Amino acid sequence: MSVETKSKSAAAKKAVTHPNTWVFYNGEFGRYHDIKLGLMTHALHYGTGCFEGIRAYWNEKHEQLHLLHAPAHYERLRRSANIMRMTVPYSTEELVNLTVDLLRRNQFKSDVYVRPLLYASSEEIGVRLHNLNHSFFIYAIPFGNYVEIESGIKCMVSTWRRVPDQSLPARAKITGSYAQSALAKSEAVEAGFDEAIVLTVDGHVSEGSAENLFMLKDGVFVTPPVTDDILEGVTRTLIMRLIKEDLGKDVVERSVDRTELYTCDELLLCGTGAQISPVIEVDHRPVGSGKVGEFTQELQNIYFGAVRGETPKYKDWTIPVY
Ligand SMILES: Cc1ncc(COP(=O)(O)O)c(C=O)c1O
Repeated sequence: MSVETKSKSAAAKKAVTHPNTWVFYNGEFGRYHDIKLGLMTHALHYGTGCFEGIRAYWNEKHEQLHLLHAPAHYERLRRSANIMRMTVPYSTEELVNLTVDLLRRNQFKSDVYVRPLLYASSEEIGVRLHNLNHSFFIYAIPFGNYVEIESGIKCMVSTWRRVPDQSLPARAKITGSYAQSALAKSEAVEAGFDEAIVLTVDGHVSEGSAENLFMLKDGVFVTPPVTDDILEGVTRTLIMRLIKEDLGKDVVERSVDRTELYTCDELLLCGTGAQISPVIEVDHRPVGSGKVGEFTQELQNIYFGAVRGETPKYKDWTIPVY
């Protein structure tokens, strides 16, 4: 089998956009297959783009699609753009409305992942941020679980380090930074693990390849601070609230040592894609009992109720699409 055929069949198992999908591109709605990007597109060569990942959850019972925390994602896009010397061309309210419009046009009746991307679209050679044209699109795609969320995942501490703020700010969701995430993820998966946990350059736990991290230790949830080169996750903020309000436990933001991962009672990764993924093993050492933790399980139950619009208290987390 040729390399090309192999990669095509691997891609077929993944979420692949249908060519007729509606997308929003440079101010208009159009079909995915009608969009043409030039080979010289700056962002394709130099990683000069910033993006978001937003979920919408289908509630079968209510026949409703719930768009989760879209304003927070678009606010983060604005902050990422500011770091990258770009301007998001719409207000947050306009972006949320465009997203709802896009989901409606596509008539999705399943869980969906929404991907807005603002990028340097000038077709020229030359690494820089200034004097470039920018383009913006939003597309959406039916999407299931990004990582396993039921029986727990096995992680390795990556040999790759998280990009430091001094080099490539991790708090901005910059396309180019994801080469680092890809190095870590593939190293972990090809070594037989499910996911990578990445340390900062100075050796503290930062986050997963595309997830934030919480551990439970002596009855307190601990998560690395925003100054340990993490993406300031939207899900992380939601989970901090659930831990405090629903589990009645404390959450502490502090630096975490690698070996605390081996000695904590529960560990989880979280993110828009990952949702809440229990970690049951790190570097071949069982986490706690080696099974999905009791509090992690409880968090999952509360989280999935909230994101599917089932929990009156968290109604304001989501926007109904239909
Ligand atoms: C590197 C990284 N960290 C953390 C997260 C979690 O962020 P959020 O909860 O906003 O999706 C993501 C997901 O986008 C990510 O890519």
